[in-house]
Amino acid sequence: MAQSVPGPRLDRSHITPVKTREELIYLLSRAAELEHSLACIYLFAAYSLKNDVSEGGMTGEQAEMVRDWRRHLNSTAVEEMGHLAQVSNLLTAIGGAPHFKRTNLPLPASAYPFGILLSLEPFSQETIERFVCYEMPELGILSDEQQALFDPIRERVLTSQGAIQADLEKEMGAEESLEPFEVDFKTVGEFYHKIETGFTQIPEEDLFIGPPEAQANARFVDLKGDLISIVDRASACAAIERIVEQGEAPTSDHPDAHFWVFDRVRTQYAEAVAQAQQSGVAFEPVRPVISNPMTHFYDDTSGGTVIRDPLTHEVADLFNVAYDTMLLMLLRFFAHTDETEAELEHLSRSTLRLMTTVIRPLGEALTKMPIDQSALPGKTAGPGFGYNRDVHLLPHKQSAWIFFGERLWHLATVATKLRLHASIPTELQEATAALQDLACQFAPAEGPHGVAAKVAELKAMEAGLRCSIQASLNGPYLVTNAEHLQNSRGERIPARPQMALCRCGGSANKPFCDGTHTRLGFTDKKAPDRVPDRRDTYIGEQVTVFDNRGICAHSGFCTDNLAAVFHVGQDPFVTPNGARMEAIIAAVRNCPSGALSYGISGEERRDDVDQVREPTITVSKDGPYRITGGIPLADELSSDEQREHYSLCRCGQSKNKPFCSGMHWYVNFHDDQPL
Ligand code: SF4
Ligand code: FES
Repeated sequence: MAQSVPGPRLDRSHITPVKTREELIYLLSRAAELEHSLACIYLFAAYSLKNDVSEGGMTGEQAEMVRDWRRHLNSTAVEEMGHLAQVSNLLTAIGGAPHFKRTNLPLPASAYPFGILLSLEPFSQETIERFVCYEMPELGILSDEQQALFDPIRERVLTSQGAIQADLEKEMGAEESLEPFEVDFKTVGEFYHKIETGFTQIPEEDLFIGPPEAQANARFVDLKGDLISIVDRASACAAIERIVEQGEAPTSDHPDAHFWVFDRVRTQYAEAVAQAQQSGVAFEPVRPVISNPMTHFYDDTSGGTVIRDPLTHEVADLFNVAYDTMLLMLLRFFAHTDETEAELEHLSRSTLRLMTTVIRPLGEALTKMPIDQSALPGKTAGPGFGYNRDVHLLPHKQSAWIFFGERLWHLATVATKLRLHASIPTELQEATAALQDLACQFAPAEGPHGVAAKVAELKAMEAGLRCSIQASLNGPYLVTNAEHLQNSRGERIPARPQMALCRCGGSANKPFCDGTHTRLGFTDKKAPDRVPDRRDTYIGEQVTVFDNRGICAHSGFCTDNLAAVFHVGQDPFVTPNGARMEAIIAAVRNCPSGALSYGISGEERRDDVDQVREPTITVSKDGPYRITGGIPLADELSSDEQREHYSLCRCGQSKNKPFCSGMHWYVNFHDDQPL
């Protein structure tokens, strides 16, 4: 569809300008609550979508499309969190406080003047249409032709929410708005326009009383450098315009605005459903997720479904406490006092890590877990984003940081305990890995509660698990109980009993996963044009060489050191009589990928090629993980691969994932920082 061309009907004359600081603070706090709620709602829908063709109900092509929708929903949610950060700076600039509180969901349509229900719903046609309505530009922005297309969608959304809306109104007694100030805005665009009037009407010299150094610094917040420091009227108006531009795109063509992104997803979904109906082949991209799952009924809302399955309930509790911890840390970050620059960076990175490597995988895990096997068979739960505790500012630096350390340790131990369940989704391992590492990062360097003591305790908890690597579906390598992690110089990298190692090549925290694979839409599929996984045999007079080109990591050890036997880019690759037997055997034993083996007198000597070594993961410079010592490898679709040594892709581009196929060299993969 053509992008927005401002129509002639834009009329804001009904909006009364904001004249007082108090009203402006109130409206900004409401804006923060709205942005926060929308982020949760979009994430819930993203987590409800299937991640891979192996979950059924989709072709390979459809799975790609659905992964794209997940990516869009996730990045829109991140932008909403960015808006929340921006609103926090606006609040701080005028003497208010960052606002991270919100009411539990669902919320009736009357909660905001836009008249649309705020509810945690799995992805569906109705849900995506509601998202389009949340972000719909104010009347007069779209051309008449465009408006005529979107009016029926809004009509449908309002009609479809009728029954649930009536229930919520009845239960919560929210028939009348209790807003303390005049509500004369109907869309998010008008809402922000009203806020902007406060910044343009209240005298500039009176308004900006907050200390600029108290605002969050864009340097520490990974929001594409979008966060604006608010120092005067111009910067405040620029910040508001950017928020509206990213959401509803009122001032110029903006194909990435949330409104247009959601509309594209809506159209694609409708087309895919229509095609499926025509062809008779089912298209089922959504997990059987229930709306508004809750660990218990809250005081401030109702209308959800309580999670009765005991294990799911425990994971949902873990999710809520992790979410609560992230908000506490975020609040401390936005209302910091005497933290150093390094501490602020640590706080912001840890908060982001909680969001992308703990809350995300736990949210995904919950959409795969039963909610109530007896009353709701076949239905799964989801992340309720429940507010079990009050999110309040921890005002004193030292005690706040001790509190964070204690909370992270609690989360790490609970996650580790849950991870031991055989039936738990693998996403829990991913979250456990991040929590173990975060807990260690916030622990004292030494002493009875220091890092070594914590690692020992976690190790004891996981003592019953064997050392292994699991290539998770379209996600990181999940490593259990591998003690030796090292760089290519043989220097130790601190290891935790549970680790998630990046395999998409995009993490900013290599070798560990930082959740970037979701943003990139990483897929672990093997390329159709890969070299076949096939063993060739080269019989020589003294020695027979076995070679599997399909798993060669192209490290060049053999071709560089024994070019008379191993030939770069030539066929045949091996001349088995090209050197002395000892030299050939040494080259074969030196092969890191396991592609080479040898035999004498017709009998393979695999035992000699497979050496007895400590299980070790070596992160090679700008190259693959080199695994030695026989760490079993399992992925979600095949049984264990038992090899003493092998190389695993780390750049994300291998044609033969999870194994390295040498693509890191062709794509010029480099570690951003020395490991
Ligand atoms: S991985 Fe093995 S076979 Fe491949 S180039 Fe390196 S040493 Fe040779
Ligand atoms: S960031 Fe998770 S696999 Fe790369």
